[in-house]
Amino acid sequence: MLRFDKIDSTNLEAMRQARVGAPEGLCVMAREQTAGRGRLDRAWHSPKDAGFYFSIVLRPELPMNLWPLLPLMAALSVSDALMKSYGLCVDIKWPNDILANERKLCGILAETIETASGPAAVVGIGINLMKEAVTGELRSAATSLEEMRSQEIDGEIVLAELLKAIAERYQVLQNEGGAEHTIREWCANSSYAFDRQVRVTLHDDSFVGVTRGLGNDGALRVELSEGKIKQVRAGDVTALRPATSTK
Ligand code: BTN
Repeated sequence: MLRFDKIDSTNLEAMRQARVGAPEGLCVMAREQTAGRGRLDRAWHSPKDAGFYFSIVLRPELPMNLWPLLPLMAALSVSDALMKSYGLCVDIKWPNDILANERKLCGILAETIETASGPAAVVGIGINLMKEAVTGELRSAATSLEEMRSQEIDGEIVLAELLKAIAERYQVLQNEGGAEHTIREWCANSSYAFDRQVRVTLHDDSFVGVTRGLGNDGALRVELSEGKIKQVRAGDVTALRPATSTK
């Protein structure tokens, strides 16, 4: 585990490490990020000691077309870890946002790179631990573990559970039938998997439909009004109404 007081981004550092030969399982953590990265080229607000900023290098023995399942596996691991560490039951919004009370508590960014010893994946996990992680315009759409639990939060407890959960879920994903199992588990832990009315926003386009589970590679299947199914592999998904049962 590499720990930093301050770094540009734990994902960038993990990618630098992977390029110079870091083995699978190398973890990078920081107390603060100066250039935290989110999905779709967004920034990830990363004030000092307010969030959990973590990345792991993986070198999966999986066909590349199944690598999009890595962030789904990571989302399940975060869900396990939050339950084990703080008894918090969360929802997963496609592809891998962790929500509590319909507000974002954690984001995951998976990136792939070429290295001398083959392709590698870096999976970065950002969890809002303290209230200070959620400021300004983030307030309406995001929450923190501290806000959800009203108790002192210790990131090390989350880390210990997260490492156990990733070890287990990553192993399962690579076993025979692991992809199907991971997809089933993701669907069982997400109120977005089936029958949810959503808007999907791509670069300059958006459409509305009803979710119909995940494809074999983790794409979200969305049924349009005329009955056609679109497989969504990028973009943002927003629910058009709250979940019928809150998880
Ligand atoms: C998102 O929801 O857009 C993904 C956010 C991912 C943030 C984490 S924080 C640790 C790691 N390092 C980064 O620069 N990003 C990820």
